Amino acid sequence: MILVTGGAGYIGSHTCIELLQANYEIVVVDNFSNSTRHSLDRVKEITKKNFEVYDIDITDSNALGTIFNRHSIDGVIHLAGLKSVGESVEMPLKYFYNNITGALVLCNVMQMFGIKKMVFSSSATVYGESPTVPIVEEFPLNATNPYGRSKLFIEQILHDLYQSDPSWSISILRYFNPTGAHKSGLIGEDPLGIPNNLMPYITQVAAGLREKLYIYGNDYDTPDGTAVRDYIHVMDLAKGHIKALQKIQESTGIDSYNLGTGKGYSVLEIVHCFEEMTNQEVPYDFTMRRKGDSEQSYADPSKANEELDWFAERDIKDMCKDSWNWQKNKIKVNMI
Ligand code: NAD
Ligand code: WQD
Repeated sequence: MILVTGGAGYIGSHTCIELLQANYEIVVVDNFSNSTRHSLDRVKEITKKNFEVYDIDITDSNALGTIFNRHSIDGVIHLAGLKSVGESVEMPLKYFYNNITGALVLCNVMQMFGIKKMVFSSSATVYGESPTVPIVEEFPLNATNPYGRSKLFIEQILHDLYQSDPSWSISILRYFNPTGAHKSGLIGEDPLGIPNNLMPYITQVAAGLREKLYIYGNDYDTPDGTAVRDYIHVMDLAKGHIKALQKIQESTGIDSYNLGTGKGYSVLEIVHCFEEMTNQEVPYDFTMRRKGDSEQSYADPSKANEELDWFAERDIKDMCKDSWNWQKNKIKVNMI
């Protein structure tokens, strides 16, 4: 049985699908601070499988303990966390408390129950302003905001934990830019308020919910002047968790892996690909660079390719099509 923390969220719900389809039994805990139960109802509908869902905050040690008492848990996929960079700058304590205390409490309860296998959701944000691309796991780590620092601290805590007890088995997954949705169009990213991330903003413009996209900067040293990122389909990411789980079930140790395609696309390339794939117009204007944004970020995913036997299979066209399919269905799906 695998415990999925934050399983109702964007990446968690897609990961639950892959887990169930790979015949894992799962149990989900989530405090629904950035999600609803709807996504998990859809996961059950898509997979035709059932599982228990608990409305629990992972900072609540006693509540978490009851889950470990009730279920025979073999390993944990730990996705629960707050993820807005901007909000973390305004509310650093909230982010440090939720993300770091949450991870500490979880590790402590796991240790109490002798469960020492964890896949942790980290982020390419831990590389900060990377001096060169593609980014390899050995690059210096240097987060530039409280959200990123919370991920960096947790990575360090996990390393210290492993040093103290080498019977742990931990896989740290550094996601690049997750996007796309399950092909059913039943689940996907559902940001509250104005989206921070590029793809949900584009889909909302295409759906007529926002007037136009504001592209942050067209004076970067890139072929078309707009910033370059490594967009990765959420179903490929979900698969990465299964591969990481297989690895930690077979061995002990601690390793970090980049989950990205290894290809960088500029903002304008994404906009044009989206228009082409969906036949929707995406009006845009250029505006100032966004503070804290880097010029280029893309992964060298060789380590995950070689050690996890994980490869990104979907391309940017799939990401655009699936994101749009979800956007079109979203209002309908959320009403059911
Ligand atoms: P999400 O907000 O959709 O999912 C996170 C889930 O965790 C939500 O359902 C939320 O309700 C839950 N949660 C938060 N704090 C909790 C707590 N204290 N107790 C219980 N549940 C709690 O975000 P996501 O995009 O699915 O991200 C999942 C993980 O991946 C996060 O840790 C995030 O930092 C990391 N990550 C995300 C991205 C991205 O761009 N989406 C990139 C890199 C890393
Ligand atoms: C992508 C590109 C923007 C919105 C963030 C977090 C990172 C990770 C993934 C969690 C950039 C441009 C965007 C818009 C734009 N999350 N853009 N107009 O900033 O690479 O990474 O999400 O771990 O930590 O920082 O992703 O989707 O916000 O931006 O021009 O309205 O699109 O400038 O170049 P980012 P993003």
